[in-house]
Amino acid sequence: MVSAKTKLISLTNPNNPTGSLISEEMLYKIADIARTCDAYLLCDEVYRGCDQEGNGFSKSIADIYEKGISTASMSKSFSLAGLRLGWMAGPIEILKAVSIRRDYNTISISMIDDHFAAIALESKDKIIDRNQKITRGNLKILDEWIQNEPLISYVKPKSGTTALLKYDIDIHSRDFCVNLLDKTGVMLTPGSAMDMEGYLRIGYANNVDILKTGLNKISEFLSEYS
Ligand SMILES: Cc1ncc(COP(=O)(O)O)c(C=O)c1O
Repeated sequence: MVSAKTKLISLTNPNNPTGSLISEEMLYKIADIARTCDAYLLCDEVYRGCDQEGNGFSKSIADIYEKGISTASMSKSFSLAGLRLGWMAGPIEILKAVSIRRDYNTISISMIDDHFAAIALESKDKIIDRNQKITRGNLKILDEWIQNEPLISYVKPKSGTTALLKYDIDIHSRDFCVNLLDKTGVMLTPGSAMDMEGYLRIGYANNVDILKTGLNKISEFLSEYS
């Protein structure tokens, strides 16, 4: 789809809702494509640090491409969404332009949020380690559950905290989610909200007991259809 008119290519890596991860090799190929039309490559990397393997951090687009712009925040891999604090890395002219725009509409984030985020970043390794234990352990639980649920299938996530589940039932995804919520109190996101009818998004980075209880309740709900 890239043409001489392309100014910016936008990616989300790692991805929400699928939990997919673009390989480093593929990122270099995408950078090559962007270079053909001198386009910026904007990458939402808010889930960077949540990979299922290695140290959890795959390469940032800002380190791959001279016109790569990476955005991220405290919200996902640091599990501190309440701080409302994020950052970007990229070419200096973009950072200057964004700073001017930010001054215009935000001026400053809360100093208290800034203070707590600084403390969290000083303990980055501990926080990331805690969170990876949760996402890696919980994905095993989700994966086992899916292997035993004939009506559900998925492509196993490689990163992130969410997965996209395909269900083999003839029902609109919104009706599925509303019925599930009414009957069990479990909430999934309908694929229809993401232009992905026939799918459900699950967030699996919860407390282990809550995840297991929720999955059992979904199984009870599904047994009415099987
Ligand atoms: C891919 C992605 N980027 C950004 C955000 C929002 O992040 P923040 O809360 O830091 O604005 C979300 C939240 O769901 C997300 O899934």
